Amino acid sequence: MANYIRCRGTLDIYDKQALIVNKIIEICKRVSNRFGYNYIQTPVFEQTELFTRSSGETSDIVTKEMYTFLDKGNRSITLRPEGTAGVIRAVVENKLYANRDLPLKYYYDGSFFRYERPQAGRYREFMQFGVEVIGTSSILDDVETILLIADILKELDLNDYIIKINSFGNEECMRKFRDKIKNYLISFKDELCDDCKNRLQVNPLRVLDCKVDHDFFLNKDIPTAYSCLDDKCKEDFIKVQELLKNENIPFVVDNRLVRGLDYYTGLIFEVEIKDKEGRPYTVGGGGHYSNLVKQLSGPDYACVGFGLGINRLSLLLEEKENQIITKNKSIYIMPLCDDAYLKALAIAKMLRNEDNVVVVENAKKSVSSMFRYASKNEFDFAIVLGEDELKQEKVNIKNLKTTNQDLVSYDNIVNTIRG
Ligand code: HAM
Repeated sequence: MANYIRCRGTLDIYDKQALIVNKIIEICKRVSNRFGYNYIQTPVFEQTELFTRSSGETSDIVTKEMYTFLDKGNRSITLRPEGTAGVIRAVVENKLYANRDLPLKYYYDGSFFRYERPQAGRYREFMQFGVEVIGTSSILDDVETILLIADILKELDLNDYIIKINSFGNEECMRKFRDKIKNYLISFKDELCDDCKNRLQVNPLRVLDCKVDHDFFLNKDIPTAYSCLDDKCKEDFIKVQELLKNENIPFVVDNRLVRGLDYYTGLIFEVEIKDKEGRPYTVGGGGHYSNLVKQLSGPDYACVGFGLGINRLSLLLEEKENQIITKNKSIYIMPLCDDAYLKALAIAKMLRNEDNVVVVENAKKSVSSMFRYASKNEFDFAIVLGEDELKQEKVNIKNLKTTNQDLVSYDNIVNTIRG
């Protein structure tokens, strides 16, 4: 028989990691709800063209990393490499803006797929939590998305982060920046990798994001996006910084920052956290994009959004013993006779209503094997319910951490477990 193993770059998530991943998603959703966002779910696969048009035909994602295949109807389909394009497609297709006040605010989570070289924190199937604000009219919405990230990280107890920001300005500033970069890099053309020689012609900003040529740029005096901003865009960028400072958000202006997707205009940002060895992880990124809705045949709406890498956040949390997972109390109920079973179910229901984890032993086992099971599985309490206890309308509650045991009336079970 063949042995099956998971595909390269994919993950099985279980035990502690599963608890952490679920907790991260729960916190992301809870905090986003507080900011007035609503949940949206879009398909895991879409027409390939949606991504080639939105992510940028020269981006690494489109040229190298998409899981694309022909379906049985000969249509080109792609597993979503990112969430923004699908959300905007859904907003336009379902006219979600009709009769609603702007901006629309959505959040989503799920699996995304990129054919990347797997390494720690980089997978071929990964999970993201993302938000999109659609129809924004103010840089305050850009700032608010960063404040949302800050609140999520605070709840995750990941306080040692830095937000790198940069701004491309408007269409005209971006055009200037592209021309300036192209003119600058043309003299180094022979030193660039083959992909970048091509990128230089079709989309010069992509060169700055090249993983191969990354080191080549380190000591070069490359023109900055800031030098191409007009007065209004400079003013906006400075205002963003003032607001972030005022809110005590740890950030730096990174003149070299570019994003791997082509739809951004205006403010862009990335969130970086170091692991305990000091290796930096980009746990999230996003920014402002003003053309995508129009490009996908919708109204002329500017947007802002971000994606957080759930697996990367999970990696960082696994190595910290901070424990965002405040584990609920776990209780093992041991009915010792047939008559005790119904009472055991009633007690289980009562304790589960209090958010405890409750397991009722349904198999006939000896008392000693039940206690062995309880201690092996690290339950906090065992509740013993035999004929004597039933007669007295009480239960024996054993605290398995302290080994204290109390005979408790039914009314006092919840309080005893609460402690
Ligand atoms: P992104 O920067 O491509 O942006 O991805 C966001 C985050 O997803 C990254 O910062 C990283 O933490 C995580 N991530 C990306 N690729 C991988 C991978 N191969 N393995 C593990 N984690 C990964 C976007 O996807 C944009 N859609 C964000 C956005 C929303 N911009 C505006 N709205």
